[in-house]
Amino acid sequence: MKCAADRDPRDDGLMRLLLIGAPGAGKGTQAERLAARFGITHISSGDLLRQHVRDQTALGRTVKSYVDRGDLVPDGVVMDMLRKPVMAAARGYVLDGFPRTVEQAEASYAAVRSLGVEVQAAIHLDVPREELIRRLLARGRGTEDAEAVVVHRLDVYQRKTVPLLEYYAGREWMSIVDGSRSAEFVHEDIVRRIGKLAAFISSP
Ligand code: AP5
Ligand code: MG
Repeated sequence: MKCAADRDPRDDGLMRLLLIGAPGAGKGTQAERLAARFGITHISSGDLLRQHVRDQTALGRTVKSYVDRGDLVPDGVVMDMLRKPVMAAARGYVLDGFPRTVEQAEASYAAVRSLGVEVQAAIHLDVPREELIRRLLARGRGTEDAEAVVVHRLDVYQRKTVPLLEYYAGREWMSIVDGSRSAEFVHEDIVRRIGKLAAFISSP
């Protein structure tokens, strides 16, 4: 009998996707569409952290200043927070905003692999910096989207997340999508890419 660690992650015919992209690249927008289309769970580290801040939980009080400044929250806090939702959605999820550093990817890999719930496909949403700034300033999501904080978030992305993209570069399950086009077009492109990446997608 196969144990979870030996299992081909595609045997269950379900989807575990990862969206990586700069602030404003459209991770949340695309994750929502993918979740609705394929009936999988959207798990956003940023949305969960903001919910904790709004609810003034102990975790929310710990992370508020990081989120407001546009700095990354400590790895351990984010990983503890995500463990439960990822396990609960192990049969299908689209993860948005995690991992966003090489350290997070390495630390989480062993855990998810041993449980047989590792990601099957990752999409890098690529959008030019000027368009990211335009979108975020137009959205204006509180302190986080103030101009100086937006510039800082893009700098953090460059320093911490771009190395993750380099680390993942060339993996067969990684795909780059031009995220500067309309949300609908980007969605269809992602669906095409993941369809090509693996045969695990049953028709929507
Ligand atoms: P997070 O919530 O992940 O923020 P982010 O990466 O800065 O990205 P956003 O949510 O702002 O943008 P998005 O890519 O989701 O784009 P969206 O679809 O909204 O993280 C927030 C904070 O939490 C971090 O700064 C950090 O402090 C902490 N955190 C989170 N994860 C962490 C982790 N793993 N480790 C440590 N700390 C962590 O779109 C943006 C706008 O553009 C919207 O107005 C949308 O309508 C519009 N738009 C989207 N797509 C298009 C399109 N194709 N054309 C035109 N407009 C579009
Ligand atoms: Mg988002």
